[in-house]
Amino acid sequence: MKQAAITAVGHYVPEKRLTNADLEQMVDTSDEWIRTRTGIRERRIAADDEATSDMAAEAARELIRKNGVDPAAIDAIVVGTVTPDMLFPATACLIQEKIGAENAWGFDLSAACSGFMYALATGARFIESGQHEKVLVVGADTMSSIIDYEDRSTCILFGDGAGAVLLEPDDEYGVTDIEQGIDATDWEQLCMLAGGSRRPASPETVEKKLHVLRQDGRPVFKRAVSKMAEITEGIMERGDLAAEDVRYLVPHQANERIISATADSVGLPMERVMLNIDRYGNTTAATIPLCLADYEDDLRPGDNLVLVAFGGGFTWSAAHIRWAYNGLDV
Ligand code: UT7
Repeated sequence: MKQAAITAVGHYVPEKRLTNADLEQMVDTSDEWIRTRTGIRERRIAADDEATSDMAAEAARELIRKNGVDPAAIDAIVVGTVTPDMLFPATACLIQEKIGAENAWGFDLSAACSGFMYALATGARFIESGQHEKVLVVGADTMSSIIDYEDRSTCILFGDGAGAVLLEPDDEYGVTDIEQGIDATDWEQLCMLAGGSRRPASPETVEKKLHVLRQDGRPVFKRAVSKMAEITEGIMERGDLAAEDVRYLVPHQANERIISATADSVGLPMERVMLNIDRYGNTTAATIPLCLADYEDDLRPGDNLVLVAFGGGFTWSAAHIRWAYNGLDV
């Protein structure tokens, strides 16, 4: 069976930076608290006329430009996001039109911080089954559109961005193993309550600020630490990977303390952990492809990567990838 290899990477972050110093002017917080509790120094914020499909299309355009990909050859577009431009049409449809992928079909899927991983798992199946030759997998979120900038416990964490990878069939390299799970126990600890069919938008939902992300940070933190460690260990065991075999751990960027605890649990030093939370904060579905874009020059074909994410739902996923892309060709 063919494997789904990542053969191209693209990314986009908005120009505007929201620094810890800016946040000190907005809520009762400090640069020191944010840096020591989360590892974040600044995040990017979309422009007023910029939505998730715009950022995702920019990431896809970079991927296309750098690798000479013909947009018309893309078969499908799978988008992980919790901040689509609107409930429908799907972000995938808007991206298709913006990048001229005239022969592609596609759809969005909702798995919060695990969104890119679920999209990767789904896209990989289309390649492995032989149904498609080129699948564009996107993780993109405009978190600033659902953040309450008066809530210091959440507004310091999140940022906006988009990342995209292209999957193509390969005999040797690619997604070797991927697992995912969900558990809705205590889902209220991380959610957005209004704007769906249970609580459609009304003056009351607006007045009660139900259209923003709410999080009970401490229990989510504990759960993230234990699940990320468990599934990272699991995927390494199944792949017979010792710590020295792993070129990079590629963790969802929610909190540097969660990331270092995950790395510690499998004996990986931080030099072999992809980290950019200091510059982008938590961009939800975009964190993992943004990491891949940042570190791609450092990767060589055959490198073992372990990807891991945990987020709202609750959702989680871990994968073992044998890297195929050398920045030029497969
Ligand atoms: O991506 C999806 C999954 N999400 C996550 O994985 C996020 C998980 N949670 C976290 O990353 C952390 O829980 C936070 C960064 C959100 C919070 O850090 P914490 O160390 O768990 O702090 P805490 O919520 O236990 O709060 C400790 C103190 C509290 O004050 P008291 O009650 O001790 O007086 C908070 O009110 O810190 C206070 N606090 C702040 N102080 C300054 C909370 N937010 C802030 C803030 N600035 N921005």
